[in-house]
Amino acid sequence: MTTAHKAREEVTVDFDVYDPALAAPVDLFQDRAKELADKGPVVWSPKYDGHWIVTAYDEIHEVLRDAETFSSYPNNLVTSEAFGKFLPIELDPPEHAGYRKALQPLFGPARMKKLTDEIRGVVNDLVDGFAKKGSAEYVSEFAHELPARVFLALMDWPLSDAPLFTEASDIALLGKPGASEQESLEARAGAAMQMFGYFQKMVEDRRANPGDDITSTLIHTEVELEDGVRLLTDEELNRLFFLLLIAGLHTVQGSMAWMLKHFIANPDQRQEIIDDPEMIPNAVEEILRIDAQVIPGRRATRDTVLGGQEISAGDQLILLLCSANRDSSEFDDPANLDVTRSPNRHLSFGGGPHRCIGSHLARIELKVAMEVIHERIPDYRFVESDPPVFQASQVRGCLRMPIEFTPES
Ligand code: HEM
Repeated sequence: MTTAHKAREEVTVDFDVYDPALAAPVDLFQDRAKELADKGPVVWSPKYDGHWIVTAYDEIHEVLRDAETFSSYPNNLVTSEAFGKFLPIELDPPEHAGYRKALQPLFGPARMKKLTDEIRGVVNDLVDGFAKKGSAEYVSEFAHELPARVFLALMDWPLSDAPLFTEASDIALLGKPGASEQESLEARAGAAMQMFGYFQKMVEDRRANPGDDITSTLIHTEVELEDGVRLLTDEELNRLFFLLLIAGLHTVQGSMAWMLKHFIANPDQRQEIIDDPEMIPNAVEEILRIDAQVIPGRRATRDTVLGGQEISAGDQLILLLCSANRDSSEFDDPANLDVTRSPNRHLSFGGGPHRCIGSHLARIELKVAMEVIHERIPDYRFVESDPPVFQASQVRGCLRMPIEFTPES
């Protein structure tokens, strides 16, 4: 750790991670993140009662790994105690460990790899839906649908319930854009109640009719927790399901959209993977790096110094992974997409005890999507009169992306 050398006033910035204006034009968020990073590895925003914004690779890595000094509760700047905690993301070690252990094997690399063919089937089905048309609204017809279908299949929940998740998880994650903070909090609580009601129904159903899906496994597996070895309670199950849903859908949807956005902006790179699909796993890592969409939150548990700033116990921080991934001390030519980049130690899946459990699944979904799209509709482009719509928040994403391409014959 370094000693403090700049007063908070010197690194104060005007930045609100939820500001809708940051989402358009598309590169504005990253441009602003770069300005903050140029100001310092740790800067201060007065928004949301004040919080630190960590911009540099090393400092972000340090925070992610030190859960004793930096608690992951609350993970969101806009939060309410009445809302409770997301499990396991908002629990600190050692309390976190038991829940993590329960989830980890369900999303392990070998288990996820076995899903590759099934995922390829879903990807091809979705592309069948628009390949002959020569155009698509890529988010609703593909980027949203793919992770939703894969997730529902893993959980063994009815596909027809997908619209409910989309709406409720959007509100739970983003609040109500344009509404007051209070209204947004109320909307989030309402959406959470709706989701919990649904999960409870699923828990009761699977308790009576167990299968080999993730829902049943979590209900029926004894877990080693701080208060002993026991089954998870309904409340714990509901909170786990809620996080899986939020963590697994919006993130993958965002990455699917960044993939097209960056390949449209870099036709030579797109050509490289079309000519040599063997490069796709490497290209997936580069797509993940170039636009990390998650912005995790932490709260200091004690006074400390980070990146030259004195952080006080109780201070809130957010970690701009998208900025860490473009830190020139770690990456050469960081603003450029380079599908051959190696090594590529990006932080898009976080690090330390809360490192993303779904990373293997996300990588497979991205890999298969990249293969099939570049095989079947490789010349996709944006529609000039109907540009994509992105969104800023602690999980940045894409709401709409109309595309055109040569129709499949
Ligand atoms: C491209 C897609 C994805 C990205 C970029 C991503 C990113 C992240 C990040 C950055 C974290 C750590 C947050 C923190 O430290 O506060 C995280 C945690 C988590 N992710 Fe993902 N994620 C993705 C996909 C998924 C999927 C598909 C699932 C599962 C269905 C998933 C489940 C989780 C869970 C359960 C955690 C919490 C782990 C814990 O607290 O121990 N994620 N993810």
